[in-house]
Amino acid sequence: PRRTPLIAGNWKMNLDHLQAIAFVQKLAWSLKDANHDFTAVEVAVFPPFTDIRSVQTLISADKLPLAFGAQDVSAQESGAFTGEISAAFLAKLECQYVIIGHSERRTLHNETDEQVAAKVTAALGQNLVPLICVGETAADLELHGPSAVPVAQLRAALAGVSNAADIVVAYEPVWAIGSGKAATPEQAEQVAAQLRLVLQETLGQDVADKTRILYGGSVKSGNIAAYMREPNVDGALVGGASLDVTEFGNIVRYL
Ligand code: G3H
Repeated sequence: PRRTPLIAGNWKMNLDHLQAIAFVQKLAWSLKDANHDFTAVEVAVFPPFTDIRSVQTLISADKLPLAFGAQDVSAQESGAFTGEISAAFLAKLECQYVIIGHSERRTLHNETDEQVAAKVTAALGQNLVPLICVGETAADLELHGPSAVPVAQLRAALAGVSNAADIVVAYEPVWAIGSGKAATPEQAEQVAAQLRLVLQETLGQDVADKTRILYGGSVKSGNIAAYMREPNVDGALVGGASLDVTEFGNIVRYL
């Protein structure tokens, strides 16, 4: 069966818990009003940690067909790790997903491939689906071409993953994030196809066939459909445009 497309909104450090509630309510109602088929295109939001409890309460009380997750997770199980949030905490809050290895964490917080792999293992240990981000910088692109760095990052991230694992991969060229300079659909497809080969080599054909690979980097309602036409692109990880309910709703309803 075709992989169910996933449109994921990464809020980054935006929207406090009150704004989050208003946003999720409005998003759910506007999509329902538009008769959005949530089984045809899955929708997930990634609020800041401090919003998750509120979002969970709202989604479960109103039985909203939205998935949610966190933007990061600790690789540690528990203990003296001030400021860290464990995978078990996220699982208790009914998070389904967790973003791991976002380029902002790799760049601004010096996260290494090894740390990313350890976080992926920690997430899977709590039955969270890791949304593993990979992508090259503009300098990488010039030096190594489009897929070498994302391919190496994905291989490293999968170091401790078994072939039964439920994961999502996001290809986010760093030069396209928040820049308005989106990759072309052909560029996204080219790298996504290489990433699917990595999945096939490391986790087998079945996992490669069922794993969703998202594109991220300046996705908007005006360019989403073109990405979704590419055979190896199964959705989008949206940053800036996920903060506007109308715009994000239009991205979800790209069909
Ligand atoms: O996680 C989302 C990405 O970093 C994309 O951000 O849509 O603002 O370019 P953007």
